[in-house]
Parts: sequence; C-alpha cells; structure tokens
Amino acid sequence: MVNYKDLGLVNTREMFAKAVAGGYAIPAFNFNNMEQLQAIIQAAAETKSPVILQVSKGARNYANQTLLRYMAEGAVAYAKELGWEHPQIVLHLDHGDSFELCKSCVDMGFSSVMIDASSLPYEENIALSKKVADYAHQYDVTVEAELGVLAGVEDEVAAEESHYTRPEEVIDFSSRTGCDSLAISVGTSHGAYKFKPEQCTRDPKTGRLVPPPLAFDVLHEIEKKLPGFPIVLHGSSSVPQEYVDMINSLGGKLPDAVGIPEEQLREASKSAVCKINIDSDSRLAMTAAIRKVFHDKPGEFDPRKYLGPARDEMKKLYEHKIVNVLGSNGKA
Ligand code: G3H
Ligand code: 13P
Ligand code: ZN
Repeated sequence: MVNYKDLGLVNTREMFAKAVAGGYAIPAFNFNNMEQLQAIIQAAAETKSPVILQVSKGARNYANQTLLRYMAEGAVAYAKELGWEHPQIVLHLDHGDSFELCKSCVDMGFSSVMIDASSLPYEENIALSKKVADYAHQYDVTVEAELGVLAGVEDEVAAEESHYTRPEEVIDFSSRTGCDSLAISVGTSHGAYKFKPEQCTRDPKTGRLVPPPLAFDVLHEIEKKLPGFPIVLHGSSSVPQEYVDMINSLGGKLPDAVGIPEEQLREASKSAVCKINIDSDSRLAMTAAIRKVFHDKPGEFDPRKYLGPARDEMKKLYEHKIVNVLGSNGKA
C-alpha cells in the first residue's frame, strides 16, 4: 500500500473547492508517454496551474499502470526542479470500470479515481460508485462518478448515443454514492469526431462543420440542485482546426473533425464545472508536429528530432488551455 501523500501528490478536494469558488476549471490532461508528461508539467509549472494527470484504460494497456505511477511520482520532482515550489499535481484514474481497478490505483498511490458506471442501470451505478467511494475515502483519495452518457466512440469509451444527465437525479446520486465530483453529459463527446455531420450545421464561408451548442440550461439546472458541488466535463477537446488542416495537408486524413468551441468551455469554467478533460487535442498537436518533421526532413530518423518538436507543440497547447480557456493559471 502506497499513499499518494508520500509521493507529493494531492487529491482534488481543496483544488475543486477553490476552482468552483474562483470561477475557473482545473485541466485534466491524459498522458501515455514521457513527452506528454514533460509537456504537461512544463506548462503547469510555468503557468503555476494546478493540474490533473489522467491515466486511462488505454494508457494502462499501452504504457503499464505501474510505470505511469512512477512517472507521476517523478513528475512531482521534475516540477520542483523547474522551480514550482509546491506543485499541485493529482494522479487520477480516468474511466475506471470496476471496483478492483479503482482499488488497485488507490493502493498504488493514485490520489483520485473515476468510477465510470454510467452505462449501468441507475441503481447499479449508485451501488458500484458508492463501493469505490467508501474504499477510496479511507485513504483520503477523492472519487469522480458519472451520471448520464456521452456520445462518441473513443477506444475503450463508447456510447451509442448520448443521454443528458437528468438534473432531477443528481442530488440522490451524489448523496447516496458519496462521490466528490460528478461527471455529467451536456453535449460534449470523446474523440476527434464528436458529432455526426447531420448533428451540425456548416459554415457557408469556410465549409467547416459547426457543432451543436452545449446544453447550458441542463448544466445550470444541475448547478442549482447541487450548489457548489464540483462538476466535471469529459470529451472537452476543441479539435483545433489548425492542427486538423496541418495533418490533412501533410498526408493525413481527418475529414470533418470538430470539437467543442473554446468560448463554450471558457463559459463552462466560470460555473461549477471545475475539471475539464482534454486528451484528443494533445494527440492532434503531437501528430501535426511529427508529420511536419517527416515532411520537411524526410531523412530524419532520430526520434528525439520529431518527439522533441511534438513535445514543444503540446506544451504550447497545454499553456493555451490553462491561460486562455480554463483560467487556472496562477492558482497553484
Ligand atoms: O476518455 C477517453 C480518453 O481520451 C482516453 O482514451 O482509452 O484511448 O487512452 P484512451
Ligand atoms: P477528448 O477526447 O475530447 O479529449 O476527451 C478526453 C476525456 O474525456 C478523457 O476522459
Ligand atoms: Zn472521458
């Protein structure tokens, strides 16, 4: 049993309380490899932003859960080396799908876990989320649960269709599970293909898809039911069109990829939304940068020469999200 406090990590409790009161959101960035982690920590350290490092099931399969945990421990030391005296870093399990998995993360030093039982019937979602919360709370590990179903398909996270969270259920759900934060469905979606073209309109000038707006009415109703309770948005990549264009012009093929407009995320950050999950945008930044090196320098075969620029591009993206979208800069 390793407690996250001994690794210099923090849980989300105080971070979220401050974010809700201060009208900003904490970035939750997924990481699968060293370059992503370096870029996240560099961006957080330079902007003095609290940050959540997320490990998904896909990341565990790719990189190994134990290795990722040790990397997060190293990230705390790295942050200090970069001059961030008191790093506010959370290590979080993203989309945990069983009690056993959540327990294994709590036991090995994660400071926060998500139990995603949102695809189960309501009572089963409550029972499993409560079981995880009861276990995690013994070690002061915070727990995110989910109510409602996001649309979209992304590797391990798939849903045929989206069901907005029902505001009339959130009080019962959060009080009976004891969860510390609640992921809701208000129109965001995982991946780079968040919406079908038939759900969107098309900008006549650019020809680009314009996604349907987030359901702010549902979000505000939820906020009214649970004043001050931390709300989480998954599937919040904006799918920057400059990366999509760059990838497509350099031999890639991402037709009609669109995301959640950043103005809407900025607006959501000012509400009880205090954690915003971003993964796909970092994948796009990395892919665009690597494609550019391969295009411009076909003779290059030193991975550092393309992973380095990819890391720089991701750092730029993370800083932009922190400063211009979530407003978490200077809060740690
Ligand atoms: O919510 C899903 C995340 O983007 C993680 O996806 O399982 O492919 O790592 P992944
Ligand atoms: P995106 O695919 O929009 O980046 O969402 C990531 C996410 O929700 C991770 O849990
Ligand atoms: Zn997610």
